[in-house]
Amino acid sequence: MRFDVITLFPEMFSAIQDEGVIARGIKKSLLSINTWQLRDFSDNKHRNIDDKSYGGGAGMVMQVKPIRDCINKIKQCKPKTKVIYLSPQGKKLTHRLAKEISTLDSITLLCGRYEGVDERVIEHDVDMEISIGDYVISGGELAAMVLIDAVSRQIPGVLGNQDSLNDSFANGLLDYPHYTRPEEIDDQIVPEVLLSGHQANIDAWRQSQAIQNTQKKRKDLVEK
Ligand SMILES: C[S@@+](CC[C@H](N)C(=O)[O-])C[C@H]1O[C@@H](n2cnc3c(N)ncnc32)[C@H](O)[C@@H]1O
Repeated sequence: MRFDVITLFPEMFSAIQDEGVIARGIKKSLLSINTWQLRDFSDNKHRNIDDKSYGGGAGMVMQVKPIRDCINKIKQCKPKTKVIYLSPQGKKLTHRLAKEISTLDSITLLCGRYEGVDERVIEHDVDMEISIGDYVISGGELAAMVLIDAVSRQIPGVLGNQDSLNDSFANGLLDYPHYTRPEEIDDQIVPEVLLSGHQANIDAWRQSQAIQNTQKKRKDLVEK
């Protein structure tokens, strides 16, 4: 899968490109991340891509032309790319949405700054707006990285094993509790069943713990 990212801060993406699960996915050629510096599409010597808001107000607005030119350039290589604008006004990112997106061949992520983008970009150039939650952050880059990570984990082969099958939300429940060595610390002990070596009992215990965990922490998921 190919991610194209339109941003004023391409260097931020080294945080996910150079380390961890995504870096491994890139090495295995299962995904690629191409960043595009929006200022390269500016038509003025100051490399500005934003201007004052019509109607007044403090914040600046990202202009249509550089964004449109950049998207068109990406579409020369990937004509069917789905253009996603990271926005607090978008559809909430969930496990299900990340999984749906992971089946696409190419997505383009538009990262806003300032007051966001000129509304005409959303009307004409954007296929979907996605939010990482009901709060406002200062730029779309962190949101894009969250999306790339959540989506990449769903691409077959990116994770080294099948453990993500039991991750929270994968089957509608939260994950079961995990323990590691030592068996005992400060009078806290690992549940006996996990030391039993009896896989069927362990699986049953984990399933019931996942249900209890979900009931305790996220009743809304159980009700669903
Ligand atoms: C300061 S915000 C602009 C917020 C905008 N004026 C509003 O209230 O809807 C700048 C950029 O950060 C990104 N952003 C902020 N909050 C986000 C969220 N919850 N999810 C995804 N992107 C977000 C968007 O790309 C946005 O254009």
